[in-house]
Amino acid sequence: MFPRDREVLVTAALPYVNGECHIGHLRTYVPADIFTRMLRKLGYEVLFVCGSDTHGTPIVFSAEAEGVSPKEIVERYHEHFQRIFNALGINFDYYGSTDDESNHKRTQEIVRTLIEKGYVYEKKVKLAFCERCNRFLPDRYVEGKCPYCGEHARGDECDQGCGRHLEPGEILEPVCKICGSEATFKERTHYYFKLSAFASQLEDFLRNLDGTPNARNYALEWVRRELKDWCITRDLDWGVKFPSREDLVVYVWVDAPIGYISFTEEALKRKSDNWEQAWREIWKESKATIVHFIGTDIIYHHCIFWPAMLIAAEYSLPNAVVASGMVTINGKPLSKSRGNVVWVADFLKKFHADTLRYFLVSHSSHTKELDFSWDAFKTRVNNELVAILGNLALRVLSFAQKHFGAVPEGELHEEVLARIQTAREEAVKAIFAYDFKKFVDASMKLADFANKYFQREEPWHLIKGGEAERKRCGEIVKNTLQLLKAVCVLLEPVMPSKMEELWSQLGMDSDIHAVGIEEMTVPLKSGQPLGKPKKLFERVP
Ligand code: 2FM
Ligand code: ZN
Repeated sequence: MFPRDREVLVTAALPYVNGECHIGHLRTYVPADIFTRMLRKLGYEVLFVCGSDTHGTPIVFSAEAEGVSPKEIVERYHEHFQRIFNALGINFDYYGSTDDESNHKRTQEIVRTLIEKGYVYEKKVKLAFCERCNRFLPDRYVEGKCPYCGEHARGDECDQGCGRHLEPGEILEPVCKICGSEATFKERTHYYFKLSAFASQLEDFLRNLDGTPNARNYALEWVRRELKDWCITRDLDWGVKFPSREDLVVYVWVDAPIGYISFTEEALKRKSDNWEQAWREIWKESKATIVHFIGTDIIYHHCIFWPAMLIAAEYSLPNAVVASGMVTINGKPLSKSRGNVVWVADFLKKFHADTLRYFLVSHSSHTKELDFSWDAFKTRVNNELVAILGNLALRVLSFAQKHFGAVPEGELHEEVLARIQTAREEAVKAIFAYDFKKFVDASMKLADFANKYFQREEPWHLIKGGEAERKRCGEIVKNTLQLLKAVCVLLEPVMPSKMEELWSQLGMDSDIHAVGIEEMTVPLKSGQPLGKPKKLFERVP
């Protein structure tokens, strides 16, 4: 549970806008959206922000490969991501871009502060240089051997081996990614942030950090081992300029997380005239609960670089870092270049967005790897959404409609109320443990119970009996409808659009997205006309 009186800021890692959205991306955004919706149901005031990561070599490199400007590629995919998020019901309060003016300003202000406080120094380094292309090779422009584990690695990250962040100049046997020739090393002056000075503060921060244990534990291991100072400038034109140096930009991992701060500012400006005060409370006075949703591959950046920068520049620290496991496809790593990928836009042409949202959280625990396959997707949809939830809804609603035309008279049974209460408790516990699978399982267990309850009580026999039996039948139907209503409230964060349909089939005229968790046990009104029952989910062939 979070403190009740504090606002919650939820952020989701910023996608690089250098290509289309694939299902690997969604493992961060869908759970973050579920979390936000659930917190709102629990009465918390929540702000949910994200935006496009527009700088760095991932963007520049892709733009060069396509023969277009970075700006063009960024604009194209910025819109694409927004469209996909809308289609999936991922509702950010604000979705910005790290190339927005407010982010340039905020980044420069923070970098200046770091300089003024003496945390930045100049250093000569030998960097990978391509004689043939006549240029320095920052980050993704170079590949070679990881100095720690010997695996093939990218310039700033050992992405296929030990996963470590690599500093410029660290990579061994560098090869230019543009022309394929062997790179040499050439001296150049860059700016470094004194990360090593923050080891003990980071350790304190990490020990108290909430979120998933993987984030805290990996980061603690790194901090206890050794922290190298961090090079925060790059030889690129595209990006946020380093103060007083037109020829250098800041490393993308400086201005990207600062997006969380500037997007909060933009979100608040749109909400209230008193936005400055609200912003200060969140980012300067530690008066809000800040939760970052990320993937395991960027734990280092969020649990080491980012908090060190926040401490140094005197900003509020995050309270929780929630790191999802990676997505594989048919048991193999998701890879755009090898074509082992599922594009979200293609998926949405065939299937409903909510079925994907459901799959992503129900198929494996949040911190574990999630393997997508069409077979697994089909099994989840057909055996769970169709056979349990869809079946329950259609069966009880049709029966109720046929025999009563409205919610029948009757008291709610203790057994039913107790089951609803248990599901609610389990779901709330799961959400604060960032265990989204348990959250869905608790909801589906309630749906399963509702099916069994309806079956056990055999209302189809009772309806044929005398007055007392018909009354009992009405009671059973009302209780089953109540269970369905409770399931609908619990699953709204997971399947917002499908639950909106179900809500209206139940004859509810309130806004399902705005009702609180207590609505689960608010009795349905007897006599309330029911909507037209309609199949909720289609079987996957
Ligand atoms: O790894 C990535 O895809 C980055 N674009 C994530 C940035 S998250 C935040 F720090 F900005
Ligand atoms: Zn390595």
